[in-house]
Amino acid sequence: MFTLTESDEWGALQEHYDSISNVHLKTLFEKDKERFDKFHIKFNDILFDFSKNRLDNIAFKLLVRLAEHRKLKEKIKAMFTGEKINTTENRAVLHTALRNRSIDEVIIEGRDIMTDIKAVLKKMKKFVGDVHTGKWKGCTGMPISHIVNIGIGGSHLGPAMICEALKPYAKPGISVHFVSNIDGCDIAETLKQLNPETTLFLIASKTFTTQETMTNANTAKKWFLSTDGKKESDIALHFIALSTNTEAVKQFGINPKNMFEFWDWVGGRYSLWSAIGLSIALYIGFDNFEMLLQGAYEMDMHFRNAPYEENIPVIMALLGIWYVNFFNAKTHAVIPYYQNLRMFPEFLQQLDMESNGKRVDKFGELVEYSTGPVVWGVPGTNAQHSFFQLIHQGTQIIPVDFIAPLFTDCGNEEQRRILLSNLFAQSEALMKGKTEVEVKAELTMSGIKERDINKIIGHKIFPGNIPSNTILLKKLNPETLGSLIAMYEHKVFVQGAIWDINSFDQWGVELGKQLAKKILPELDSDNEITIHDSSTNGLINYYKENKNK
Ligand code: F6P
Repeated sequence: MFTLTESDEWGALQEHYDSISNVHLKTLFEKDKERFDKFHIKFNDILFDFSKNRLDNIAFKLLVRLAEHRKLKEKIKAMFTGEKINTTENRAVLHTALRNRSIDEVIIEGRDIMTDIKAVLKKMKKFVGDVHTGKWKGCTGMPISHIVNIGIGGSHLGPAMICEALKPYAKPGISVHFVSNIDGCDIAETLKQLNPETTLFLIASKTFTTQETMTNANTAKKWFLSTDGKKESDIALHFIALSTNTEAVKQFGINPKNMFEFWDWVGGRYSLWSAIGLSIALYIGFDNFEMLLQGAYEMDMHFRNAPYEENIPVIMALLGIWYVNFFNAKTHAVIPYYQNLRMFPEFLQQLDMESNGKRVDKFGELVEYSTGPVVWGVPGTNAQHSFFQLIHQGTQIIPVDFIAPLFTDCGNEEQRRILLSNLFAQSEALMKGKTEVEVKAELTMSGIKERDINKIIGHKIFPGNIPSNTILLKKLNPETLGSLIAMYEHKVFVQGAIWDINSFDQWGVELGKQLAKKILPELDSDNEITIHDSSTNGLINYYKENKNK
């Protein structure tokens, strides 16, 4: 096979880009009144509108051809059927099995892993029920009312994002807290709010060796044992482990019967569907957790079966490639118009950038094209009052995903209308812009003199032509949220498949971890540090000189 950029499909896209890159989106809409009809997809309670993209029929066909050329169908099948597509770690990638609601088996090395998955789900269901009914009691006989998830990265972001997004579904009497940062302020601020007798700590770590999580878990344990009359044996009622590493869990002092297991074929950033999701199930109830799985499963089926032209994750991925590799977009903004989805962009940052922030292909060869973009965003309308200026009138092209539920359980009808009118206005403004003629007419109408108009006009023109997707959910509930997350997971997968990179390892996080281990004892030593470069020495020594002042 030719390398990606040498393929005919890539060449055809490049050629087409040269002819379409100056065509304005406004023109595409004017020329084709059916554009929205052609370029939107309805999936269950989700509308995906991709009509405001720099895409014509030819570009769409060529992008689909690229997916075919990269043998996407075969790669999708390989993932779902447990081939070891994470080649650098020699692992299958089977988060889709965790939410497999069918009766189909998923066989790895001769074993149906659905048996293990179902057993853990059953154990989670029982445990969640026991906590909610008060059958599971703390060491002084009080029911549990506070859940603290201690984890970082994939063992934090998914559950934290979902618990926030699904606040309206929270079980009465249960509150959930998340501690991730090694910065002592994080756990200290959380512990202040807690009574050890009604608190359950979930130590969430795939490896059970992550420095931040284990340090925070030890702090929590010390805090727990330091309170009136607590004994080591009380730990069993207040500490639960979510992990793949039974030995390390035992060593920490948690009885394996209080461990909810998952497996090495679940990537950290794809683990919210596994036992790592226990905080979600405790917060919103097991039935709702199952609806989250159901929503993801439905998206999995759509992704596996829909033709590329009607396949939301495939289209999202191809559009992303169109912008990154042909329009030279460096970043991608994700703007949820729902305050409870505040953490969604942060969650996506790990999902997308830890997966596709890669510079070598699957064979370890440097790639000759850009891979994953920087993903960022905050909720609208706040975003409009901070960085939208740059998207509208800056010098870079920044594709945007707008996401909004039409109905929520908070606020009133008027607030929702104001919010949504802003979303619709932003996507229209980004697409259309405002021309010199329009600006001039507006300024003249408002009585400004010609001489003054000329001074200001350049500042008031909006180039427009900025692409966006809009994803509307009838309602944000466990099912639609499950589908939304799976949609982005598969988008990331498709991009990795086309770029021919391994989206499932994360070696780039290792070097910093190694160096931090070396530097830690240096911060305690009495000697001046001279073994690093002058900057690192200087920073360490400045700390040592000033730490006690
Ligand atoms: O350092 C990166 C990472 O390995 C992520 O991929 C992972 O989600 C996170 O750390 C936490 O890892 P663990 O669940 O093993 O504590």
